[in-house]
Amino acid sequence: MSDTAAPAPASGSREAEILSRLGTRLVVLVGMMGAGKSTIGRRLAARLQLPFIDADAEIEAAAGMTIPEIFEVHGEPHFRDGEARVIARLLESGPAVLATGGGAFMREETRSRVHAKAVSLWLKADAEIIMRRVRRRADRPLLQTTDPEATVGRLLAEREPLYSHADLTIASREVPHDRVVDECLEALHARLCREDADASENVAGAVR
Ligand code: S3P
Repeated sequence: MSDTAAPAPASGSREAEILSRLGTRLVVLVGMMGAGKSTIGRRLAARLQLPFIDADAEIEAAAGMTIPEIFEVHGEPHFRDGEARVIARLLESGPAVLATGGGAFMREETRSRVHAKAVSLWLKADAEIIMRRVRRRADRPLLQTTDPEATVGRLLAEREPLYSHADLTIASREVPHDRVVDECLEALHARLCREDADASENVAGAVR
């Protein structure tokens, strides 16, 4: 786990309103490899003055091995079980911003835990952007195939219907990071204000 400590956002600001409505919940970023979950998550956390947590880094710390090593030595099913356990633990440590690995949200159990403990945000990137970003690094075992482009296409087709269960969706694209972060803040703010409005309407309805 890491970084925070600057002064709290100014009272009355959009960030302060998000924080107060979030309570102990986390903001959980989901989406494909290369969608920018860690980059955007880190900046979003800084804007909200919340800790940023990277689930993949926590899994590596818990296992004492890198993700490629876990896949190689124990296989993907073992990695997925560890991933679900680590995320369940991290979901108890809100408020924070949590970036999850691209496959984590595929598990029903993880989706329902995230739903209970967090506001989830899908950073949606298309295949072309994903390929451009993941090409730079060789640390994603699922993409060590003869045709990584076809693999990304297949994974997107399988995963997008499940990523779409996230509370919010923001397009991740080649614009300055701060613009995407602003869009995340705007969407979070709208969502959390709506929750509040719905809650007061329910109370008014019950009293009527
Ligand atoms: C995976 C994504 C990776 C990492 C692992 C598996 C996936 O995380 O968890 O290599 O199944 O999409 P990032 O999405 O942070 O690259």
